[in-house]
Amino acid sequence: MDKNIADALGRPLRDLRISVTDKCNFRCQYCMPAEIFGPDYAFLPQNKLLTFEELVRVTKVFTSLGVEKIRITGGEPLLRKNLPQLIQMISEVDGVKDIAMTTNGSLLAEHAAALRDSGLQRVTVSLDSLDDERFGKMNGRGYAVQTVLDGIEAAAKAGMTVKINMVVQRGVNDQDILPMARYFREQGHILRFIEFMDVGNSNGWKLDQVVSGKEIVEMINAEMPLEPIEANYFGEVASRYRYKGTNQEIGLITSVTHAFCSTCTRSRLSAEGKLYTCLFASQGEDLRAPLREGIGDDELRALIAAVWSVRDDRYSEERLKHTEELQKRKKVEMSHIGG
Ligand code: GTP
Ligand code: 5AD
Ligand code: SF4
Ligand code: SF4
Repeated sequence: MDKNIADALGRPLRDLRISVTDKCNFRCQYCMPAEIFGPDYAFLPQNKLLTFEELVRVTKVFTSLGVEKIRITGGEPLLRKNLPQLIQMISEVDGVKDIAMTTNGSLLAEHAAALRDSGLQRVTVSLDSLDDERFGKMNGRGYAVQTVLDGIEAAAKAGMTVKINMVVQRGVNDQDILPMARYFREQGHILRFIEFMDVGNSNGWKLDQVVSGKEIVEMINAEMPLEPIEANYFGEVASRYRYKGTNQEIGLITSVTHAFCSTCTRSRLSAEGKLYTCLFASQGEDLRAPLREGIGDDELRALIAAVWSVRDDRYSEERLKHTEELQKRKKVEMSHIGG
């Protein structure tokens, strides 16, 4: 079968984002609010998670369809037992050119060396504030900033490239934009500002809480002059800027004010093995049942290709025109498919 399959809007399949657990030790209000993800919340039992062998098998089929980039996500991926072993298995799959992980950083210090040894090249660490009180509130569990900074330092020391993701919410952490920019400029890590998104149905999203990428650039530029730079690759999610006269850069992820669906090459696999073709999808295609019923590689490839070929998702492009209507749509929770 052709390696260069395209979806209904002509977009190729290049990335697979694999969620390895739906659990997280944080309760970020914008992702897993504690009121909803409380002590009685039913997370997936172990036997419903795809096994490492199943994940490798699926990855092989995806690479045969053109996938080159793998991102490991959660929930919090470091809560999955023996994760470095999985990363090693996936990084050995033919056709995998890049493997990265998104983590909240709280368990990174203890795992950094093992992750690097397993072949992980890049980590993206989420951090929304350098202020302990605000950060503790935002992560919903009182975790200290230093715990995450220790994780970042350990990952960098182990030789991995580290990027930082900051979700910006007006009235919650917009005062942290400049301190974060100053700090990570100094540290030499790429900081990306993410516009607060209406993922899932539980985070109470309102458009007026979104701080636009444009506003963020203007705010930073007034103190530390910036200039735009070219994307690294086709369909890069972040728009890049450099501090003038340096090689140090930041990124803006403007999924709300300036959507990037037209170049979206990303597929997402939930921990229970459902394939989603959009971060805002209502439904996914179950791969676990066919896998456990003994589907062959060719059939699995045909199944995935069929899902991709009819894909016409462009949620973020539609959102600004149909905000109210789209808020009522049922969407998968971010903790299921990892952002
Ligand atoms: P690299 O460029 O490979 O480093 O990664 P990336 O830019 O894809 O980074 P990452 O996976 O950390 O994505 C950053 C954040 O952007 C995610 O956590 C999401 O919040 C958001 N994002 C990523 N992909 C999409 C997408 O397809 N649609 C939307 N709406 N948001 C996305
Ligand atoms: N809006 C924007 N980004 C979000 N993330 C989680 N929920 C949201 C949201 N509602 C980000 C996290 C992390 C990545 C997995 O997605 O901060 O960096
Ligand atoms: Fe956990 Fe990340 Fe969601 Fe926060 S954003 S609750 S750290 S999965
Ligand atoms: Fe891709 Fe959906 Fe995000 Fe658009 S909204 S960029 S189609 S994941």
